[in-house]
Formats: sequence, structure tokens, C-alpha cells
Amino acid sequence: MFDQLQALPADPLLGLIAAYRNDPNPSKVDLGVGVYKDEQGHTAIMRAIQKANIRHIETEDSKTYISPAGVPGFIDSVQKLVFSEDSAMLSDNRISGLQTPGGCGALRIGAELLVRLKDDVTVWLSDPSWANHTPLIKSAGLNIENYGYFEPSTGEVDFQLMDETLAKLGPTDVVLLHGCCHNPTGADLKFEHWQRIAERASKQGFVPFVDLAYQGLDSGLNEDAKGLRHLSENIEEMLVATSCSKNFGLYRDRTGSLLFQTANSANSSAVLTQAMEAARSSYSMSPAYGGFLVNMILNDADLRQEWETELNAMASRIKDLRKGLLEKIVARGIDKDFSYITKQKGMFTYLGLNKDQVHRMRDEYAIYMADSSRINVAGLNTHCLDYVADAIKAVL
Ligand code: LMR
Repeated sequence: MFDQLQALPADPLLGLIAAYRNDPNPSKVDLGVGVYKDEQGHTAIMRAIQKANIRHIETEDSKTYISPAGVPGFIDSVQKLVFSEDSAMLSDNRISGLQTPGGCGALRIGAELLVRLKDDVTVWLSDPSWANHTPLIKSAGLNIENYGYFEPSTGEVDFQLMDETLAKLGPTDVVLLHGCCHNPTGADLKFEHWQRIAERASKQGFVPFVDLAYQGLDSGLNEDAKGLRHLSENIEEMLVATSCSKNFGLYRDRTGSLLFQTANSANSSAVLTQAMEAARSSYSMSPAYGGFLVNMILNDADLRQEWETELNAMASRIKDLRKGLLEKIVARGIDKDFSYITKQKGMFTYLGLNKDQVHRMRDEYAIYMADSSRINVAGLNTHCLDYVADAIKAVL
């Protein structure tokens, strides 16, 4: 039977992890997969997570099943983090949700919900979007289309182009938006863009699906959710996929959530039963471990303070690395405008290299990045900036 299945090439992003690990070059630099790294190139466990971990191990007394909804309290805590403590939608019980295996699990269960609607739904993705958005959503059986988004010459969002597509959408359309720190471009929507999207969604009836995988990695937990919160206050329905991979550093513990805002509390309860059934018929229940830690941190004043302080330091280090890289590039007199690097947000930016140049970076300098020339800025450190800038100059 299985001789019918051909071997597939490695996933483009995940394949970089293995290629980097196997590279013996001592100068190698990993700017591939989006994980935060410190000055030593290590993805350390966050301090608050370490402490919560110890407390949890000491107190957990059972490994019995919990529920497809996840760890008790986790969703309430995450909802407040995302929508704010004083969200009227929360007090009106118009938001509900479930814990999921990472942000990917949330996107997938969200897609499964959309497949259950009577209408044939089209999901609109930014061009470009995170490489895994298409397979995750498409394999649930949904149609996918793209809206124009990124203008390479400025490194910013071309909102006019995006708005031309939005103008045509209606109640059978779902628009996937990156809540902050757009992956892969680093080009974020401005607040006035979120306002325009809210106006259109409420008038035309399309539904936003916000992927919030990087809350706190740019301008703070509240500021990074500002656009999403504006949508929530001004439209009836939306979906949100959250991830604790980056802001809690829980990558391998697969911790995330799918949240949905609906027109009333009865709809919210009904959608939750559907989402739980979609989870049950897929992986049954989310891994619980990360949910316990996140819930503990969000509800303990000292742990929360420690977490927020470390998260802010990570965000500010990423900004410093953006600045540092730009300075090194400018100092080399490279004839290309890279000033967008310091205007963009979060972990990613494009270097604007073609595939051959990306491969030369890898083969000649052991600097790893996606073929699109997307780099994970958080994979840089002050020791390698000169080396990376020299390599960019050489391949250009
Ligand atoms: C990335 O974009 O590199 C990360 O989100 C990791 C992944 O799973 O692709």
C-alpha cells in the first residue's frame, strides 16, 4: 500500500533547522526559523516559565484528561490578555474559545469551523503571508485567495492595494490578518488601516480572522493588540488564533488558543461546542502543560511582572538588532536602501536578495535564511552583525 506514497522534500522552513545543525562552519548564523535567540544564540527558557515550571511540578497530582476546552482558567486569562480586562465583549459573554496545540492548532480548528458553515467560505491571505497559512487552511477544505499587501520598494504595507480587494468582499469572505509583527515581511498595518478594515467588515459583512502569534514582541502587550481590539469593539464577529510559542517561549509545548467573538452569548456557546467537537475528532485534547504555566504566570503578580519585563527586553533587543544591522549595512556603502529595516516590526524582515544570493549566503558564508530572503532578526547577535553585513555586501 505505502509504496504509492512518494517522499516529499523537507518543509522549506523546518528543513533549514536540520541544514543549520549539520553545518560544521564555526561562523554559521541561523536566521531561518522564527525563534527568539539571545546573544549566545541560545533559545533560553524564560525566567517566569522556569519558576512556574517548578511550582507546577510540585503541585500537579494527576495526569488525567482535562477537556477539549483545555486547562481551566487558561482561556479566561488569555482572553483578557488579548481583548483587555475591561473588554465589553468579554463582560457580555460574546467571546469564547478553547486551548489549542499552538497557533497552528488554533488556525486549523478555526478553518474546520468555517468548513462547517452552510456557505462556501473563501479565506483571504496577505500576499505574502506565513508559509504555513496556506497548507493549514487549505487542507481543512477551504478556498484561499490573496489580497495585495506588501510593497517591496518601501518595505511597507500598500494599503490602497489591500483595500481594493477588501472593497469587493462580503459575508462569505474571511480575511486573515496578522495582529502584529507581520510574518514574513515585518510590515504592519497602521491603526488607521485597522479602522478602515473595521468599517468595511461591519458594512460589508466579511469576518476578520486575526493571527496573533507575536503579542508583546514589538510595542508592548496592549499596543500590539490595539488593532485587534479596535476590530473587536467595532464589528460583530471575528476569530483570533493566539500562540504562546514566541511571547512565552513555549515553542515545543504547543500552547495556543482559538477565540471567537460572535453576535451574542448564545452564539458563542454554540460555536464553542462545534470547536470542541472539531478538536475531539482531530487530536481530542490540546497538550495541557503549557496552559498550566501560562495561566499561572498571568494570574500571579510577581511571575507576571517578571514575564512582562523579560518580554519587553526581548522586544527592545530585536529593535536594537534592527538598528545595528542597518548601521553595519550603511557603513559598507551598499547601494540599496535598507532603511525599512528599522521601520518594520517584530522578528522578520526581507533582505531583498534573490534565490541565488540567498544560496550563496548559505553555501559561502553559512548564513541560513528562507529562500524568500526573509531573516529572523532575533537570530542575529552583536558578534555576527559585521559578518552578516559583509556577506550581504558580497552577494549583492
Ligand atoms: C516561522 O515562521 O519561522 C515560525 O513561525 C516557525 C514555523 O513554524 O514556521
